[in-house]
Amino acid sequence: MQSLKERFNSIISLQDLEKFKVEIIGKKGGLTLAFAELRNLEGEERQKQAKTLNEIKQEFEKLFESKKQELQILELAKKLQDEKIDVSLFTQSYGGKEHYVHLMIEKIVDYFVALNFELCEGGLVEDDFHNFEALNISKFHPARDMQDTFYTRDEKLLRTHTSPVQIHTMQKKSPPLRIIAPGAVFRRDYDLTHSPMFHQVEGLVVDSEGRVSFSNLKFILEDFLRYIFGDITVRFRSSFFPFTEPSAEVDISCVFCKGEGCRVCSHTGWLEVLGCGMVNQAVFDAVGYKNVSGYAFGLGVERFAMLYYGINDLRSFFEADLRVIGQ
Ligand code: DAH
Repeated sequence: MQSLKERFNSIISLQDLEKFKVEIIGKKGGLTLAFAELRNLEGEERQKQAKTLNEIKQEFEKLFESKKQELQILELAKKLQDEKIDVSLFTQSYGGKEHYVHLMIEKIVDYFVALNFELCEGGLVEDDFHNFEALNISKFHPARDMQDTFYTRDEKLLRTHTSPVQIHTMQKKSPPLRIIAPGAVFRRDYDLTHSPMFHQVEGLVVDSEGRVSFSNLKFILEDFLRYIFGDITVRFRSSFFPFTEPSAEVDISCVFCKGEGCRVCSHTGWLEVLGCGMVNQAVFDAVGYKNVSGYAFGLGVERFAMLYYGINDLRSFFEADLRVIGQ
C-alpha cells in the first residue's frame, strides 16, 4: 500500500498518470493479471486474495482520482501562466481621437457660426430635383457627367454635393438666411485623388435684392481662407457652375512653397480650394424666391485637411491607420 502511494507521489504529469493507470489496471496491467490469476486458486485462499486485490483496486482508484485532480489544477495554472497576455506591451495606448476630417469640419463651421450662419445638415439620399434640377442642372446637362453617382431603384440617389441643402433650406424657410452645411457626398470616382465618398461644406447667404453682393462674398471668403491657412494670397478666377452666375473658383497661394512653385501646386504657385458665385436666378425660381439676391460657395473638406495637416495621400483618410490618427 505504501509503495502505491509512493508511486503516485512521484508522478508529475497527467500523461505519466495515464501510463501508470495502464500499467496497473490496463488490459495487461499488474492488477488485472493478478485478478486473472485468481482462477488458479481455490476456496478460502481465493476469497482472501480476491478481497486483498479488491482493496488494492479501490485504494488505487481513490489515489488515482485525487492525483488526477491535483495534476489538472496544476496544469491549468501552468497553462494560464504560459498564455498570459501582457497588456502592458504597448508603451503608448491610444485613447479615442477625433478624425481629422471631423476636426477640419469643426474648424470651418466654427468660423461661419461665429458670423451668425445657421448650421444645417441635409440627408445623404436625395432625389433628382434637389440634387440636380433645382440647381439648374437639367437632365442632359454636361455637368452631370462629373457627378455620376449611386442610384436606387426608386429613382433616389446618393447626393453628389452638399448644394441640395440650399434647396431644402429655401423650400422650408423664407429669406433672409445664412447657412453653413457640412456633410458626406458621393460620386462614382476612385483613384489616387478621388474617393467614392468624401465631405463638403456648403454656404449660402440670401437677402432681399441688392443687399448681397459679390464684394461681400469676396470679403468673407478671403477672411475665411486666411483664418484657416494663415498668411496666404487669395485669387478669384472666373469659372462656371450651373447654380451660380457669375461663378468663380478660388485659389490660395501654395501653402507648401509659398507661391514659388512645387510639386503639390504643379509648379503654378496656386492651389484651387473652392467654388463660389452669386446664386443663379434659375435656382431662386425653382424654390419660388422673389426679389432676392444671394451668394453660395462649396468646398471639399479632405482637400482642406490635406493642405492644412500636410497629408499627401487621400487614402490615409479612410484607412483608420492609428499611426496617422494618433498624431
Ligand atoms: N457643388 C459644387 C461641387 O460639388 C461646389 C460648389 C461650387 C458649390 C460653387 C457652390 C458654389 O455653392 O457656389 O463641385
